[in-house]
Amino acid sequence: MAKFDFSNRDSFGSKIGVIAAAAGSAIGLGNIWRFPYVAGENGGGAFLLIYIGFIIMIGVPVMLSEFVIGRRAQRNPVGAFRLLAPKSRWPLIGFMGITAAFTILAFYTTVAGWTLEYLYLAVSNGFQGQSKADLQNNFGEFVASGTRPLVWQVVFMLLTAWIVFKGIKNGIEKYTKILMPLLLVIIVGLCVRALTLPGASEGLIFLFKPDFSKINGNVVLQALGQSFFSLSIGMGTLITYGSYISKKDNLGLTAVSVSVADSLIAILAGIAIFPAVFAFNITPEAGPSLVFITLPLIFEQMPGGYFFEIIFFVLLAIAALTSTISVLEVAVAYLAEELDMSRKKSTIIASTGITILGIFCTLSMGPLPELGFGGMNLFDILEKLSANIFLPLGGLFIVLFVGWKMGKNNVFAEISNDGLLKVRLKWVYLFIIRFIAPIAIALVFLNGLGLFGVFSGGDL
Ligand code: PFF
Repeated sequence: MAKFDFSNRDSFGSKIGVIAAAAGSAIGLGNIWRFPYVAGENGGGAFLLIYIGFIIMIGVPVMLSEFVIGRRAQRNPVGAFRLLAPKSRWPLIGFMGITAAFTILAFYTTVAGWTLEYLYLAVSNGFQGQSKADLQNNFGEFVASGTRPLVWQVVFMLLTAWIVFKGIKNGIEKYTKILMPLLLVIIVGLCVRALTLPGASEGLIFLFKPDFSKINGNVVLQALGQSFFSLSIGMGTLITYGSYISKKDNLGLTAVSVSVADSLIAILAGIAIFPAVFAFNITPEAGPSLVFITLPLIFEQMPGGYFFEIIFFVLLAIAALTSTISVLEVAVAYLAEELDMSRKKSTIIASTGITILGIFCTLSMGPLPELGFGGMNLFDILEKLSANIFLPLGGLFIVLFVGWKMGKNNVFAEISNDGLLKVRLKWVYLFIIRFIAPIAIALVFLNGLGLFGVFSGGDL
């Protein structure tokens, strides 16, 4: 079989394409679904301040470190560690990333599939006249029903696979460049709608008013965990995307832009959701119920609700899709480059494997509850395993690798494009990835394992 031709490797064609793709990866269900609730419940503005602090202090440096590894090596995560640290155990970090790609996509496409069902319901006016109890029952029945969620999950996976199969420039870049601006327009439109509802200000208070009495160790660690999942860091997604970034692009600036975009969309999602929740006197609820039960209830009563509900679920589906493609690309790049498979074959193999795991995950929500242990079904297990174990552990080793193993000169050469760019904060960056980030990430990891008595919920 022919060896993978590295001299002919695909790449992003423009700076804006890189940002669209990486922001597309970062912005997902984590921003629109989970962030608003977690922030609101954990001290509002106080949580937000800590979260933003983590994004700046840890998220951006970790993201930059992934870009550094990827662009330096021009390889998938396993290949990158093999090249930069030959004959060592570092490639295991890459393998953990490939494993995480499978576990994340399995549960993520389950939820992404739900967004398609709800989009279908929205278009066909399926929420009309339903009470909260109806919506609750319908959601519960749908999720547990097996067949319909499975069909949507497979549809979502096919969409993901199709874009990834098309490649970087003609697939991922091309579609994220269209989808991300659309997402921004939709979310701003939803914010305007929410803010013009009578009584909207209470929702803003819930989201933004700092309540420092709610801040404790666990909340701080939750903020760090949320920032990791939300930025797509810790599993090599951004090593992979970094490997397609042109040698002329400014990696630091890219990491900052992507992180700003990600945080902005999370905040806008909160602004789109909470004012509406409060305007209709509904108690804010967590996770699935907020988006799939509470919001349809609100849209039913809102002027223009039919239209806004459709665009809301379009928004969720787009956000999820630009994230799933980035995760699938990690596995596909690995198979293509390390196992010398064609892009077509690697896409088919990776997607099939993920779909099989995903099917079990969906079935564990209803027809096959015995799939699981310790009171958690497979869905919960994969979610917690990914968010609380794989990502923090991956992130920890990534910063340790760049901080201590790659060599300071190599790292500085990469972030300055061989001295062409003046990077004023390079020593600050080095200090963070050597000391601050590893310690902070280690704390999140221990928390994820429940060592502080808290098995914090994974981030969706
Ligand atoms: N960042 C995505 C979100 O917020 O929904 C989820 C995600 C994508 C996590 C890619 C990890 C990843 F590698």
